[in-house]
Amino acid sequence: MNEQSTRRLYLDLLEKAVTNLLYGDSPIPNPWLPETEFDSGRRENGQDWPSQAHTMVGLKRIQNVRFCLEQVIADGVPGDFIETGVWRGGVCIFARAVLAAHDVTGRQIWVADSFEGIPDPGENGHAMDKEMALHQANDVLGVTMDTVKENFERYGLLDDQVRFLPGWFKDSLPTAPIDKLAVIRLDGDLYESTIDALKNLYHRLSPGGFVIIDDYCIPACRQAVEDFRSTEGIADPIEKIDDYSVFWRRADLSIVTGVGK
Ligand SMILES: C[S@@+](CC[C@H](N)C(=O)[O-])C[C@H]1O[C@@H](n2cnc3c(N)ncnc32)[C@H](O)[C@@H]1O
Repeated sequence: MNEQSTRRLYLDLLEKAVTNLLYGDSPIPNPWLPETEFDSGRRENGQDWPSQAHTMVGLKRIQNVRFCLEQVIADGVPGDFIETGVWRGGVCIFARAVLAAHDVTGRQIWVADSFEGIPDPGENGHAMDKEMALHQANDVLGVTMDTVKENFERYGLLDDQVRFLPGWFKDSLPTAPIDKLAVIRLDGDLYESTIDALKNLYHRLSPGGFVIIDDYCIPACRQAVEDFRSTEGIADPIEKIDDYSVFWRRADLSIVTGVGK
């Protein structure tokens, strides 16, 4: 088997491992997703909160992470990968695996989370965040940093290319020692979590880099994205990943024209 086939098979297998499409664990029923039986279609589309899998984003969004990373590697777009809102860490574990499979040693995986769940919006929070009151599910959504590190170790992928940013995004991201980013993946659900991440990270995104919005189907998140894009005058076309999520690529004329490669 040649190197390319081995890499493909490893990443294909890992897509099914982090989503646990391999063994099909039952979901944790919750007010938004009440199902109790494993359904491969729902898992492929990230429409359940798995009891065992290391990510809830599902197969299509994992494949999108692979697409974005392989594209920036192929095009030489400089910068790291960050996910804001990692839960059990499966997306970041998979992202680390993509770098490993391509022998990429000069890029980091930034793992940003409170590691205690979603913030309570409180009295002064955004109205749409208050309405959702997602922090009430923190018994499921809050996963400690030790557990996430342990999950990386299970795959043999915890090393010095993985960097942890614990704390609320509004505190951890402004001072994060990140230079350039090539792929930004936002998965913090709330208006506040989404806008805090965009405001603190977007200016570090290289031209030709990608922004992935996991929660675009949530009105609060979508509003934050629309507000940010309109304030910053971002017109790059938004593409659908699945019924929940979207992404866009930051314009870079040198990629379109081939100039500067
Ligand atoms: C839906 S989960 C993320 C799912 C994850 N990407 C996966 O692969 O399964 C949302 C995560 O965002 C984190 N979070 C949300 N808002 C946050 C904030 N403002 N600061 C820090 N962490 C936040 C929560 O702790 C939780 O781990």
